[in-house]
Amino acid sequence: MKNSIQLFILFLSLTSTAAIANNSEIKKGKQLFQTHCASCHGVAGGMNMSKRTAPPIIAVRKHYIGTYPDKFSFVNTIADWVEKPDRNKTQMRGAIRRFGLMPNITVNRDDVEKIAAYIFEGDIESPAGFQDHVKQMHGNH
Ligand code: HEC
Repeated sequence: MKNSIQLFILFLSLTSTAAIANNSEIKKGKQLFQTHCASCHGVAGGMNMSKRTAPPIIAVRKHYIGTYPDKFSFVNTIADWVEKPDRNKTQMRGAIRRFGLMPNITVNRDDVEKIAAYIFEGDIESPAGFQDHVKQMHGNH
């Protein structure tokens, strides 16, 4: 009995340490996103594409999460993209037609992986009207 209580306490402390590490990764990812990506992928400009230079990041997330539903492949695919945007690997052909190919930006791989983790599971903001846009463009499902 005593042993199982000790084991249970050990289990609790291990899982909460993992949760804290994960939270600080997401927090850092959010800051890095603000620094390196938000000028183009932020909420400024809303859903008015003529006022934007790139799709909002919530739209990028939506396009990637279907093909890469697990965190590992999601994070790696986004990190590969940022390292070298390549029109043959796009998930967002319409965005390239509208905005042109994303330019190369210099961010180290570690930081991009934190940013991608934040895009995967952080509380990313969506511009007003995004949900209506999804319904119009892709049907209500
Ligand atoms: C100077 C503007 C700019 C910055 C800064 C920028 N992007 Fe982009 N990004 C674009 C544009 C424009 C597109 C849409 C065209 C395209 O897909 O290439 C895009 C598309 C994307 C896509 C979808 C690619 C596809 O076609 O499937 C991802 C993923 C992405 N950006 C991630 C990021 C991340 C992460 C950052 C920050 C590290 C970032 N971008 C910073 C302009 C930018």
